[in-house]
Amino acid sequence: MGSNLGTVVVTGAAGRVGSAVRAGLRGEVERLVLLDRVALDARSPSEEVRRVDLRDAEAVTAALAGADAVVHLGGVPGEAPLPDLLDGNVLGTHNVLEGARRQGVGRVLLASSNRLTGFYPASQSITAELPPRPDGLYGVSKVAVEALGRLYADKFGLSVVCLRIGSFEDAPSERRHLATWLSPRDCLGYVRAALTAPGIRFTTIYAVSANTRRFWDLEAGTALGYTPVDDAEAFAPGLPPEEDSPDLQSGVYASAEYTLRHL
Ligand SMILES: NC(=O)c1ccc[n+]([C@@H]2O[C@H](COP(=O)([O-])OP(=O)(O)OC[C@H]3O[C@@H](n4cnc5c(N)ncnc54)[C@H](O)[C@@H]3O)[C@@H](O)[C@H]2O)c1
Repeated sequence: MGSNLGTVVVTGAAGRVGSAVRAGLRGEVERLVLLDRVALDARSPSEEVRRVDLRDAEAVTAALAGADAVVHLGGVPGEAPLPDLLDGNVLGTHNVLEGARRQGVGRVLLASSNRLTGFYPASQSITAELPPRPDGLYGVSKVAVEALGRLYADKFGLSVVCLRIGSFEDAPSERRHLATWLSPRDCLGYVRAALTAPGIRFTTIYAVSANTRRFWDLEAGTALGYTPVDDAEAFAPGLPPEEDSPDLQSGVYASAEYTLRHL
């Protein structure tokens, strides 16, 4: 790929997905700017680290100076009280998009989630065209994340790709992952395609591996330029048996108890 990607900023660079994206993009970009609220050390001459809280609009805008693209992964990655999700995910994403607008950033990738559509039946194969059916407050925050992306694309002409990430794991560890697994290799494939696809104003794709039992259509990802290669099915024999097949795509995440403890 070479250094034609220029300067790429990764938010949430200390996190699980961020660490994988960092390792994958290092050596492929001219400059990799790594943001997180926890301290990071630069590991190559092309890396630059910055301790930034995404809730701090001015700091985020300053960190995006000179960026060609931003991969926005930072935030709250699961069910939490709504004020925390509004702060970390909604306000944080707004600050990234507004910073990108002010700094003229060419492409913004937003980490969305499969949990935005978790109330669809497990028996249904769905596309990102269908209305949201979030499985909890976290899913609601991702509806807002995608809506902010759409607003900044429509109103201000930003180029935005929303990645509805599946279950990012080195290997599937539970039955649901047979449908939802996103392997590190496929994650990188989607991120590279989302960074390089030409002519995008706004698009939303499911970033999931080519799992035999997947719930989500791969076509939008293929149109963007990436077709996944891994399949969780290879791990099926080693996974614990499931007591009942879940009716809903989010399984246990869709239960009332899962959200009640955060209210
Ligand atoms: N891991 C998955 O399977 C998965 C699935 C669907 C969506 N996602 C989304 O992908 C993104 C990354 O997920 P992850 O699993 O790597 O999460 P993670 O918790 O491992 O990483 C998130 C990072 O964001 C940083 N962060 C959080 N709030 C911040 C703030 N206010 N300012 C600056 N930094 C902040 C944290 O320090 C952390 O390093 C999240 O947006 C998550 O919702 C992940």
